[in-house]
Amino acid sequence: MCANILAAVAWPYANGPRHIGHVSGFGVPADVFSRYMRMAGHDVLMVSGTDEHGTAIQVKAEQEGLTAKQTADKYHQLIAEDLQGLGLSYDLYTRTTTANHYQVVQEMFSTLHRNGYIVAQTQQGAISPSTERTLPDRYIEGTCPICGFDGARGDQCDNCGNQLDPIDLINPVSRINGEVPEFRETEHFFLDLPALAESLGEWLDTREDWRPNVLRFSHNLLKELRPRAITRDLDWGVPVPLDGWRDQPMKRIYVWFDAVIGYLSASIEWAKRSGDPDAWKQFWTNDNARSYYFMGKDNIVFHSVIWPGMLLGVNGDGARGGEPSDWFGALDLPTEVVSSEFLTMRGSKVASSRGGAILVGDFLREFGPDALRYYIAVAGPENQDTDFTWEEFVRRINFELANEWGNLVNRSISMAHKNVGAIPEAAGFSDEDRQLLEASKQSFDTVGDLLGAAKLKAAISETMRIVSLANKYLSDQEPWKLKHDPKRRDTVLHVALQVVSDCNTLMTPFLPHAAQKIFEALGGAGVWAAQPQLRSVTEGDTSYTVLQGDYADELARWESIPIEAGRPLDKPSPLFPKLDEKLGETGPSWAPIRTD
Ligand code: MF3
Ligand code: ZN
Repeated sequence: MCANILAAVAWPYANGPRHIGHVSGFGVPADVFSRYMRMAGHDVLMVSGTDEHGTAIQVKAEQEGLTAKQTADKYHQLIAEDLQGLGLSYDLYTRTTTANHYQVVQEMFSTLHRNGYIVAQTQQGAISPSTERTLPDRYIEGTCPICGFDGARGDQCDNCGNQLDPIDLINPVSRINGEVPEFRETEHFFLDLPALAESLGEWLDTREDWRPNVLRFSHNLLKELRPRAITRDLDWGVPVPLDGWRDQPMKRIYVWFDAVIGYLSASIEWAKRSGDPDAWKQFWTNDNARSYYFMGKDNIVFHSVIWPGMLLGVNGDGARGGEPSDWFGALDLPTEVVSSEFLTMRGSKVASSRGGAILVGDFLREFGPDALRYYIAVAGPENQDTDFTWEEFVRRINFELANEWGNLVNRSISMAHKNVGAIPEAAGFSDEDRQLLEASKQSFDTVGDLLGAAKLKAAISETMRIVSLANKYLSDQEPWKLKHDPKRRDTVLHVALQVVSDCNTLMTPFLPHAAQKIFEALGGAGVWAAQPQLRSVTEGDTSYTVLQGDYADELARWESIPIEAGRPLDKPSPLFPKLDEKLGETGPSWAPIRTD
């Protein structure tokens, strides 16, 4: 049955260009999933945007001599270009500095406040003694009072995942200049998580099929719930929509509170732009709707506890009761929080003069999008931290993508082109023919089920298994030796091309750019796999860049489509150029491997 699928993708911070670790955790897995879901006939809404508030952006702005808004503008544009280049099929990729986002955030805040889940409290806020300015939580470091981890930050411990307040840290120091912060009393609003704990627990108990690490982590978080500050002493963020607070220049809503609401505000913005302002409800307040949230593991707490807590509170479903807002109605909680682990870059040892990281933009310019997408799918951090190395990259591209898949496509089409000039006719299948065709056909169910469960690694392995079967079939049948028996030769080539076509369909969510080319090389015309486009949109008298696409018109469907004998075939051009083995030892010039 056709479902309405919300693919909610984590929002990258506008504090610099993104590296390949970022996109391996959220962007590529979400896109593979969404592309598959569209091909399988579901209605998909894939939304995200740039996360532009908070101190991370202010600190960067200061370093670059820009205002926070200028920094946000600069990196939003850059990040949107990278995501477009990677072919991430967002229905809307927007940003958090839009008027629409501010309205939605404020409505959420006001409703939670009215329902009793946001309460004012005084707190000890950290001040830098040398500058007299407030010190952002995440710029304070110390020892975690819960697990004893040394590198805990003032907002959260990445080791045990618990939320922290800077004052809880043992031996706190400023990461900006190493000084010991002073603590002073300041008034803030808190999300009353204890009043939502019971409902959260009941809800989490119904989530059984999540990745075990995410589920375990989330259950643990519920044991330690305390009210959580959702405003900050800063001047960059969404104003608090309450009398006495609205006009205070140094009180703003905390960046994480506003960012997670982005999933809703982006859906609402998408609906407005689509011409049907209510269209977002199909994905948020509908029995047929399902929602999948994609992120790296440092984001789990915000998606499996804070955001569901906010949704329960705004719906009026916590211990204090309450009523949903007229605007939103009762909103759905996440169907699944799909979290990846980290892609590290230790083995690639990028010199720190190059930022120590492999940037998406650089990568795309040299290797194109599908090489990176393949690598992330097959060797990414789906279930454990995984180190990226150039050696492994070269091996995966040369021996798998080029030798296995590229070669199968190339030799099948070349032989058919050379001998027949078109897709050959089949004349009676042998057992071997039938077996291969059958295996290929069956893999639509197997691979589809895996993709529907966001198991990218298993899905691409199963696809590559069919590719190997097809390569073995060609080696066994040796069509190049069948000049004396053109009927049999043509049958073998027909079978091979049918399996190339099937595998290309199975590969489409992973390699949408190559898939379009292979579709055309097989004589297809039109858009097989649609790509996102950078568009400039306006809101009032400002304009900004978003990503959108016309995915509903693409031809790709999740099924084996019989190839048409007689369709003319051109000589194919190579799809995946082989990489120089030296790259594995040296890295590219823009991210050279340190030799020390
Ligand atoms: N900007 C955050 C990060 O890079 C992710 C925000 S995800 C959202 O870690 F849900 F809050 F939007
Ligand atoms: Zn800890």
